[in-house]
Amino acid sequence: MKITNDIFYVGVNDHELDLFEGQYVVPNGMAYNSYVIMDEKIAVMDTVDVRFGDEWLANLHAVLGDRSPDFLVVQHMEPDHSANITAFMQAYPSATVVASERAFVIMKQFFGKDYPERRIVVKNGDTLSLGRHDLTFLSAPMVHWPEVIVTYDACDKVLFSADAFGKFGALDVEEDWACEARRYYFGIVGKYGAQAKRLLDAAANLEIERICPLHGPVLSENLAYYLGLYQTWTSYGVESEGVVIAYTSVYGNTKRAVELLADELRRGGCPKVTVNDLARCDMAEAVEDAFRYGRIVLATTTYNGEIFPFMRTFLHELTERNFQGRKVGIIENGSWAPMAAKEIRATLASCKNLTFTDTTVTIRSAMTEENRAQIASLANEICNG
Ligand code: FEO
Repeated sequence: MKITNDIFYVGVNDHELDLFEGQYVVPNGMAYNSYVIMDEKIAVMDTVDVRFGDEWLANLHAVLGDRSPDFLVVQHMEPDHSANITAFMQAYPSATVVASERAFVIMKQFFGKDYPERRIVVKNGDTLSLGRHDLTFLSAPMVHWPEVIVTYDACDKVLFSADAFGKFGALDVEEDWACEARRYYFGIVGKYGAQAKRLLDAAANLEIERICPLHGPVLSENLAYYLGLYQTWTSYGVESEGVVIAYTSVYGNTKRAVELLADELRRGGCPKVTVNDLARCDMAEAVEDAFRYGRIVLATTTYNGEIFPFMRTFLHELTERNFQGRKVGIIENGSWAPMAAKEIRATLASCKNLTFTDTTVTIRSAMTEENRAQIASLANEICNG
């Protein structure tokens, strides 16, 4: 697949994977992207997952013909991209690896080799000339590992963005970009918003016509849309108006309260109400919703003196990703000693700029008329307050 006159796609699609990075469901598979820049010298941008080494080398050979690549640029050492470095270096014994100093340390840890005689160590701002194409390397630590570099090709105005602007989903499946890019971003990079924002700020000084990420499609049209979403995501801003309700329920009483709240919100004209049953939904979807909307209601039972397990996990997923700047309402249920609301507030105490509603609903086993009135006022506060 031709990206520009000189840049070719040589990546692969994975439809066999059960869990990406050991935890994320990928119903539409996954793409491991790799690119070749053909010039007086030839650079290959990253490798692919270990299970696709032969397919990738065949893709590479189809583009190279009888030429041999000069450089393998390793932007990220996570094995979904680095697993075939050894195979490449054996196949092309005259090639040199280009990577950050930290990447070579991790390379040795994973593969036992760091190619002291066949390597170029690059740091932020270093360049590598292929002929017409001058590559500039920008360090992007923690987007998504510490060794990451991204690469700008001034000739074709291409940003090779590593994991940034990636998404779940193989490239032979049509699907909405934002949905799976958002789940990917908040799941995988979400903790490192400040570092991802720094990369965006650096990229703002570059003239970019195409973004070539390590997962997901090459972005070449309407770049302002993608960059705008990344501005919102990396700064933990609110992307969509609406309320997300995240809940757990053991015997259905907390669920009934959630359903009543959702009805009240819709009746009150709330633009969008999203409900996630944390015991049954994809947790990564619930996490992306929490970061997408500006208002959230947490509804859960007290359990072993604190919070029901799935809610406890969910809250941890939020706090470790720097959840902030949201309005929060709470519905708790407890038959003899309700503790969940107190525990939720304590768990979220480290989050910046959270506003809690005045109304907290406490159910003791099953909803009372008083609870129904409280839920109506919670709906009004969370939607209109
Ligand atoms: Fe796609 Fe962080 O590896």
